[in-house]
Amino acid sequence: MKRTLEMQKISWPAALMATLAMAAAAPAFGKGPAPDPLTKDFQRVVDAAYAKYKDLKDGKNADYIPILTETPSDLFGVVIVTKDGKVYSAGEVDYKFSIQSVSKPFTAALVMSQQGPEVLREKIGVEPTGMSFNSKLALAVYENSVNPLVNAGAIAAVSLVQATSEQDRWDKVQQNLSDFAGGPLAVLEKVYDSEYTTAFGNRGIANLLYNWGRLYSDPEEALRVYTRQCSVGVSAKDLGMMGATLANGGVNPLTKKQVMPAKHVPELLAVMATAGFYDESGDWMYTAGLPAKTGVGGGIVAVVPGRFAIAAFSPRLNEAGNSIRALNAIRDIAGELGVGVFGSNPQ
Ligand code: DON
Repeated sequence: MKRTLEMQKISWPAALMATLAMAAAAPAFGKGPAPDPLTKDFQRVVDAAYAKYKDLKDGKNADYIPILTETPSDLFGVVIVTKDGKVYSAGEVDYKFSIQSVSKPFTAALVMSQQGPEVLREKIGVEPTGMSFNSKLALAVYENSVNPLVNAGAIAAVSLVQATSEQDRWDKVQQNLSDFAGGPLAVLEKVYDSEYTTAFGNRGIANLLYNWGRLYSDPEEALRVYTRQCSVGVSAKDLGMMGATLANGGVNPLTKKQVMPAKHVPELLAVMATAGFYDESGDWMYTAGLPAKTGVGGGIVAVVPGRFAIAAFSPRLNEAGNSIRALNAIRDIAGELGVGVFGSNPQ
């Protein structure tokens, strides 16, 4: 009724203009959504960020997983992937490195897809801890409420995946990551061996959670599947495609598969915004303004909701375990394009 009244107020010339405008726009709808107006700047900002940071040598490779010290430290790749799957890149965007913690939001997405967002909230929690990714203190303080992006919550998320066996659990986790990437992803077995044989801290975390009734499978099984998940090989381009799937309402731009329910994407992005950079999440949101996730393999993906993803990879990390070149490149691009979720962040 309201619409009818409003329509009556429109004068005939205005209505005619509106009809003509819609007719003119019709062919564009026929070809799918209009391209992002910023597309023309994408290659320029990617090239500029790559050039600006390629000689930055600050930080160092992660070494608590011994094999990560062997990744050539100078590797660097930057990419934008749009929600319709267009790729704008510079540097080594096809090099396969271990996904590490960038995997975490995607398995949280699997739990949300299988059981709804309340399960994540109640059985893991969604509070940023403000502490490091492997903090045991955070577990003591927030016994009932970590989040799925720190190690504890991510191991719990793996344990929540509905599965009939360890193999089935792994198959579901791997298939889900591959679905987000739009192509098959495989474990880097040497990374898995290196991490699993030294996973004393994560084993402690898994056992503590189990003791508190906050882990939902056998702890060693959860630890193994979680460690395999973190050892999956991805390129910066793969990460960009995974982020673009989130930017595209959970639909992979290449395969068109609905990988997670569109209605739960905002909840997942909210957790990425508040905890994706661990104890640097506040600083990251303050300066870059985008939901994102980092990994100690050197990868980072950030999402511009409804539009595109920015991903980058470079192995040298800062104290919080976040890639220094990658975070600077993504922050610059977000600022240049003015796409912070709260408004355009000044450069
Ligand atoms: O569990 C771990 O410690 C690693 N597999 C993942 C940690 C990680 O990537 C932290 N992120 N920046």
